[in-house]
Amino acid sequence: MPIRVLEPEVAGRIAAGEVVERPSSVVKELLENSLDAGATRIDVTTTGGGIGSIVVSDNGVGIPEVDVPLVFQQFATSKINRSEDLNSINTLGFRGEAMYSISAVSEVELITRAVDEKVGVNINILEGNVGVISPAAANVGTKVAVRNLFINFPARKKFLRSQKSETGRIATLVKRYSMIWPEISFSLSQEGTRFFSTTGSGSFRDVIAAVYGVETSNGMILIDSQGIDPEYLGPTLGGIIGSPSQTRANRSHINIFVNGRYIQNRTLSYAFEQAYHGLVGHRRFPIGVLDLRLSGETVDVNVHPAKTEVRFLNESEVFGVVQSTVRDSLLSSSNVQGVSSRPVDNSAILDQA
Ligand SMILES: Nc1ncnc2c1ncn2[C@@H]1O[C@H](COP(=O)(O)OP(=O)(O)OP(=O)(O)O)[C@@H](O)[C@H]1O
Ligand SMILES: [Mg+2]
Repeated sequence: MPIRVLEPEVAGRIAAGEVVERPSSVVKELLENSLDAGATRIDVTTTGGGIGSIVVSDNGVGIPEVDVPLVFQQFATSKINRSEDLNSINTLGFRGEAMYSISAVSEVELITRAVDEKVGVNINILEGNVGVISPAAANVGTKVAVRNLFINFPARKKFLRSQKSETGRIATLVKRYSMIWPEISFSLSQEGTRFFSTTGSGSFRDVIAAVYGVETSNGMILIDSQGIDPEYLGPTLGGIIGSPSQTRANRSHINIFVNGRYIQNRTLSYAFEQAYHGLVGHRRFPIGVLDLRLSGETVDVNVHPAKTEVRFLNESEVFGVVQSTVRDSLLSSSNVQGVSSRPVDNSAILDQA
């Protein structure tokens, strides 16, 4: 076959294949957009395990009417501008790819009103075709409704698990985001039932109580980042961690966030587990919400299409900060007694991770 440039419709579906693996990927992208827009309230509603519909509404800054048609264009973003910006990303989104990809494999309705506009606008996108913009009554903020996901992508639909399992994935995701953004009020309704909500009080304990229950929350230990020298510019760790008696049989309750982004990282997970060395039994894993903050210049988030992996400029430094901060928090907690403060040797651990 001769070489040909693919039709936009085919190209869109290929791009979507990377970004939109399943309904929860759509929820993730929409949540991240709402967070980047500075929302303090985010409501998520889904039906049919997210295949039927996913609606995310926020009270963020909204999108100016002139920008609305650009939202669905590939590589159209308000978050970065020049190539250098990729070296220091401070927003969750940066590719200008998510809305384009989502709209290539579903029916999207967007209603938005920017802060300084008097009325809102509404636009529909069907299989990547952007409709006309019409005025709509709306509060400041953005509401995105994604319906009939994978309507034109039967291959992808075939690989989805049951509706129940997709519903569960979405719930896990929304809970995860609510844990790291305690100052934002989240709500999740699934199949017509209000399933989960947080108050936006700003307290890690409150969000943990909403996710794991009051008893677990009360038994956990807050990481105290108050005493950090203001001149110190290196990585810092905040969040909340389980006491050694609050372990689980797997790692799925180790929630690691880098600059507010949920990531999967074996090295950090290992650093966290090592801090509990000698305190928890064999094949038991601690729980926690790790809020790692570091300069955007020292971490590369442009590694994976789903943005769930990062690379650190100085991985052993980050490892050390996680391990020692968690260990210190455990040692100074009244819940934990008789613990040796002897540091664990990192080098061998890093090799294994
Ligand atoms: N909820 C929202 N509130 C305000 N602006 C939004 C919202 N959702 C999307 N936008 C605007 O639309 C643009 C495109 O969104 P999209 O998610 O496709 O790209 P991105 O967030 O810039 O990058 P990425 O593909 O990494 O998510 C954003 O840059 C932003 O300007
Ligand atoms: Mg985005």
